[in-house]
Amino acid sequence: MSANKNVQIPSDDELKKMSVEERAALGMAMDGVELAEWGPRYVAGSPADKRAERQVAFWFLLAGALAVAFIVIFIWWPWQFVNYDDPGQLMYALYTPLIGLTLGGCILAFGIGVVALAKKIMPHEVAIQQRHQGMSPEADRQSLAAELVDVGDKAGLVKRRGVLKGSLVLAGGGLGLAAVVPVLGGFIKNPWAERADSPLWVTPWKPAADGTRVRLTQIDGTPVRPTDLEAGSMATVFPGVPGGAKASDAAVMLFRVRSDQQILIRDGQQGFQFGDYYAYSKICTHVGCPVSLYEQQTGRVLCPCHQSQFDLYAGMNPVFGPATRPLPQLPLELDDEGYFVARSDFVEAVGPGFWENGKFPAWYEEPKEATG
Ligand code: FES
Repeated sequence: MSANKNVQIPSDDELKKMSVEERAALGMAMDGVELAEWGPRYVAGSPADKRAERQVAFWFLLAGALAVAFIVIFIWWPWQFVNYDDPGQLMYALYTPLIGLTLGGCILAFGIGVVALAKKIMPHEVAIQQRHQGMSPEADRQSLAAELVDVGDKAGLVKRRGVLKGSLVLAGGGLGLAAVVPVLGGFIKNPWAERADSPLWVTPWKPAADGTRVRLTQIDGTPVRPTDLEAGSMATVFPGVPGGAKASDAAVMLFRVRSDQQILIRDGQQGFQFGDYYAYSKICTHVGCPVSLYEQQTGRVLCPCHQSQFDLYAGMNPVFGPATRPLPQLPLELDDEGYFVARSDFVEAVGPGFWENGKFPAWYEEPKEATG
């Protein structure tokens, strides 16, 4: 609400006919603003003025360049997971730091540019106004907008300072684009382009093309036999293929339950166990932490990240915490030498859910089992 009741508030038609300067003056009068000091920072066109303009333009250009760098890195930098010691691991490892540095640097440079603009380019002024409360009427809002435009005009932002205007557009546009790229970026790569071999479906547990099944091994590659586990114990195992121990979606918990223990078998997963042995993905279905705090007495498995609990005796369904899906079960059997092997890959998505989780896209006709 305007503080100065003595000022005549113009009608909407009168407002339209007023110049920007007149509306700015009106706004100050209506708000009871007293201008104690006012003046440009530097003489227009003077060396000091040009230096200030270059400094501000530098920050906006830097912000724009960093925004462009962020977009390029976000889209084209190699982001696919690469194991340690494999070629390309450094490039992969740099992906997250680089997008953080470029986007953070862009926001920082833009902020410094705005502060520098206010301190070095915008006219210097000291205005005094009594505080008032409540929502401002239309005339107040229009006059405030006019004041801002008027200050920009007087600072020569639009007419005189082409470099500054261009750099500001680049920085603002780049920053705006950088904000939407992470959303749009997810649509660039089709996760189904490899169809049955899509990394969303396939883990290193998938049998080889010639049908060779993958052995369950310890971290050092030693294959695992039923006699390696005591009743009631659990062991973390990995696929016995090159790189299997380092694959992010491959770690599995192998349980040997007591033979008198009742276990819920989920629909479609009958026969996935081998006797008293059950194997489940170790990757939490919430956001993918390793789940491995096993409480033998209760059959609960706890995820340390957000305290989700899965019940081994209830088909590894979640019974507490934010996870909503059970841990996927790996079908087990023994090979000719008596070692555990995976009969096929998982038949459910490992780790956090994704968009077609639990079912195939409508256009996808090949059953997953045929690929395993
Ligand atoms: S990642 Fe396991 S509870 Fe969040």
